[in-house]
Amino acid sequence: MDVLATLLTLTVLAASGLILMRRYWTFLRANAGPIGLSLLCAAAVAAFLYLFYRTPGTEIGAAQPIPFSHRVHAGVKNIQCELCHPYVGQSLDPGLPPVEKCLYCHKVIIAGHPEILKEHHYFDTRTPTPWKKANYLAEHVVFNHQRHIKKELACKECHGQVETMDRIRGKYFYMHFCIECHRERKANIDCWLSCHN
Ligand code: HEC
Ligand code: HEC
Ligand code: HEC
Ligand code: HEC
Repeated sequence: MDVLATLLTLTVLAASGLILMRRYWTFLRANAGPIGLSLLCAAAVAAFLYLFYRTPGTEIGAAQPIPFSHRVHAGVKNIQCELCHPYVGQSLDPGLPPVEKCLYCHKVIIAGHPEILKEHHYFDTRTPTPWKKANYLAEHVVFNHQRHIKKELACKECHGQVETMDRIRGKYFYMHFCIECHRERKANIDCWLSCHN
């Protein structure tokens, strides 16, 4: 969206530049220097806006209720994805781990850590941890992990290198993403029959 906003800004700037040019062509020819300079300024402003909106925070994913890190767990500690997402090969929904699963380790490991105390709070009050969703898929699309995992597609083909991410940089899965790989692997691309319902 930020990129869109920037593009919009640039388009507006360019359009107004063109209109000005048509009107003041002779004036322009006489004052090419200063005008070039102001266009340069406009470009600099646009570049600044772009860099400003593109804050790094927007690329590392939303802050979570507990700062759970895939880099620490799946990367440094090498815990298998399936330990926490056990249904990924067996059902539509890979599942997010319930807090019991976190406590299975954290009753012992860094048990007094303030973030782990938060887990106890969720557990004691029977509140499901309000994780924020990182990935989006349009609702009318039926996506089946099992079919894909059975074909030995690695998690990273679709999710990137999760084990290097502190916060998951989710994405919006557009159809071309599905289609590209389906073409490459000669999987079904009759998506109206198989993916949409
Ligand atoms: C120790 C438990 C644990 C392990 C191991 C783990 N995950 Fe997760 N995973 C979570 C939790 C908790 C969340 C929800 C919070 C978040 O998004 O960070 C999550 C979220 C995700 C999401 C984002 C879901 C969404 O759309 O919001 C993906 C994708 C994911 N994990 C993939 C993986 C992959 C791939 C691996 C192995 C490389 C892995 N996970 C290993 C606990 C784990
Ligand atoms: C298989 C064991 C295991 C499971 C399951 C597990 N963790 Fe951990 N966790 C660890 C280890 C090991 C560390 C590293 C501890 C250290 O640095 O000494 C850790 C570190 C942490 C930290 C410390 C902060 C950091 O990033 O260094 C937090 C917070 C945390 N885990 C949250 C969770 C949550 C939330 C869950 C459940 C979704 C979970 N853990 C599940 C083993 C586990
Ligand atoms: C072929 C692409 C693909 C592969 C391979 C894949 N995923 Fe996913 N994954 C997706 C899509 C698409 C979604 C979003 C689904 C949705 O929101 O309904 C998703 C969502 C998730 C979620 C979030 C589920 C939730 O309830 O929010 C987790 C966790 C996850 N994947 C884990 C994994 C793990 C672990 C692996 C590897 C064992 C894996 N995925 C392999 C495409 C893939
Ligand atoms: C990295 C490659 C890859 C990506 C990305 C991918 N797929 Fe697939 N998909 C496959 C392969 C390979 C098969 C064939 C599995 C089989 O033959 O059982 C498949 C099979 C399917 C099937 C079963 C088709 C049938 O024969 O009935 C559906 C439905 C499907 N994918 C939907 C999706 C959707 C929706 C997305 C995007 C969110 C997606 N796929 C992304 C590789 C991929």
